[in-house]
Amino acid sequence: MKINSKALIISLLVVTFGACSDKATSQEKQATTSSKADNEGLTLIKNTCYACHNPNTKSHDDIIAPPLIAVKKRYSMAYPSKDEFVREMTNWIVNPTKDMALMRGAVDKFNVMPNLSISKEDAEKMANYIFNNDIEAPAWFAEHEKQQHGNGKGKGHAGQGGRANAWMSEIALVDGKKWKSDDATMKHIDNLKQIIAENKVLDDEAALKGLAKKLTGELDLLFNDCTMEGPDHNALHKYLVALINKKDMLRKVDINKGWKVVARIQEQLNDYERFFQ
Ligand code: HEC
Repeated sequence: MKINSKALIISLLVVTFGACSDKATSQEKQATTSSKADNEGLTLIKNTCYACHNPNTKSHDDIIAPPLIAVKKRYSMAYPSKDEFVREMTNWIVNPTKDMALMRGAVDKFNVMPNLSISKEDAEKMANYIFNNDIEAPAWFAEHEKQQHGNGKGKGHAGQGGRANAWMSEIALVDGKKWKSDDATMKHIDNLKQIIAENKVLDDEAALKGLAKKLTGELDLLFNDCTMEGPDHNALHKYLVALINKKDMLRKVDINKGWKVVARIQEQLNDYERFFQ
């Protein structure tokens, strides 16, 4: 009875994972009162998403896309409010493009998700379901999380570890409204992008330090010219702390890691316009 014992092991693993989460009970309650739309959402997800985002994979090596629970975590970090979460995920499902991807590590590893020609209405049902409900996790997921992301310096997937992008949740948009940037700061952010674009050849540690120095110079100008105030300024401050931490890493890492840090700085610069306008 090979199949039966396998099924038993899987269900045991699922139970064990469930037991780790204190939230499970309250969210289960929520799930029992879930609306018809939620049920439709789940059916749609099973039919259209599990082909790739399959929660029943046996190991991390089997997967062809990140599990939905990881996707949910990533979106919750960037979009803590339900409105934003549902809106952004709906946009993604209807029209996935490399430029808009949050999970850049996954894009590098699996390639960008294909367009599945899903209607906005169906996409909204699925996004709502994902926000409202506990998402089934593959049995290997908890252990993988601990190893990859648990110790704070986890490399995550290609440098997408939670801590590196903590600034995104710190300055999460309220009701989708971006923070107001002044023109001078916008210009300096563009200049920083330019500096990175012009310094693509980084073949030794001296080159990394040289790049760090140029970025520092431009950041000093940014501080001098900045006229932002109040909550917008606070958001900018948090954004810049994260950027400066990355920049400072350039002085500490070897050339093999250096380009990854540069890529992350570049990503954060590109993300400016998602949070400020
Ligand atoms: C053909 C395989 C495939 C199918 C089917 C699929 N996805 Fe994906 N999806 C991927 C891959 C690969 C990624 C990781 C790369 C990326 O982010 O584009 C991904 C990433 C995502 C992301 C994260 C996007 C980001 O910001 O990086 C979301 C959200 C998502 N999928 C939702 C869904 C939903 C909901 C469905 C069902 C309607 C679905 N996917 C169906 C392959 C698929």
